[in-house]
Amino acid sequence: MQGFAGKVAVITGAGSGIGQALALELGRSGAKLAISDVNMDGLAETEAKLKAIGAEVKADRLDVTEREAFLAYADAVNAHFGKVNQIYNNAGIGHTGDIEICEFKDMDRVMDVDFGGVLNGTKAFLPYIIASGDGHVINISSVFGLFSCSGQAAYNAAKFAVRGLTEALRQEMIMAGHPVGVTTVHPGGIKTAIARNATAAEGLDAEQLAKLFDKRAAHTSPEKAAKVILNAVRKNKARVLVGPDAKVLDIVVRLTGSGYQRLFMPVLSQLIPAPHR
Ligand SMILES: NC(=O)c1ccc[n+]([C@@H]2O[C@H](COP(=O)([O-])OP(=O)(O)OC[C@H]3O[C@@H](n4cnc5c(N)ncnc54)[C@H](O)[C@@H]3O)[C@@H](O)[C@H]2O)c1
Repeated sequence: MQGFAGKVAVITGAGSGIGQALALELGRSGAKLAISDVNMDGLAETEAKLKAIGAEVKADRLDVTEREAFLAYADAVNAHFGKVNQIYNNAGIGHTGDIEICEFKDMDRVMDVDFGGVLNGTKAFLPYIIASGDGHVINISSVFGLFSCSGQAAYNAAKFAVRGLTEALRQEMIMAGHPVGVTTVHPGGIKTAIARNATAAEGLDAEQLAKLFDKRAAHTSPEKAAKVILNAVRKNKARVLVGPDAKVLDIVVRLTGSGYQRLFMPVLSQLIPAPHR
């Protein structure tokens, strides 16, 4: 992987899955890494793997929902490395359940982490990324930022919001003449701990849902996902779809407009059963 030697890259949620794979792929390409997570065991594992390949790494506990901490962290990363080129706003969580039965607190939490965390990271690091003269903001949305589905309303809302923020940012950077690339990432099913780390509304079996996800939906490895994402970053793509499932679903949504909802309901109601349906 060419093109990242000497770059300073920040990755949130780097203790697992896509974040860890991105960190390792960037490390192999010669980038310097600022990695963070709330999962300190996972973060230590990523740090050790980066050190083993000789990458320069700064590892910190950071909860992406804590805005003041995120702002202080941006200052600290810039002071440590002397510059910041890229941020991968990757940390995320899932929660399953129909709006009718979900609690506000669980839906708020998904918005706080999956959207608020991306907003915090984008705003906190943007001045440094602009100042680097060769910057990039990479925000991880989802295929669930392209279409909605039953049982995923909070996640859908957060991932659509990430897409809205990031597509606006890209236009703003171009119009302002800032040297900053901006990419929105829409992964399909990736083989990570996302479903095992997810919660579910009362009456739903989160463990069973995770098994279903792992068996039926997670087809692409995080390593492959990282390679696809970094290729898109090198080409400064506005949008990257990760995995064949993401590409097919995107085409169906484009062709059918809102008609996709009728098409997807019978399939998704089997994948995401709800107790009251
Ligand atoms: N796996 C998929 O199929 C898939 C599909 C589409 C989008 N995504 C998105 O990709 C991103 C990475 O997810 P993943 O699949 O690697 O899942 P993962 O669960 O393996 O990793 C997510 C990481 O984020 C961390 N995290 C959670 N809350 C945090 C917080 N408040 N502050 C800091 N870190 C926090 C977790 O500790 C974990 O290490 C997420 O934004 C997810 O929504 C994943």
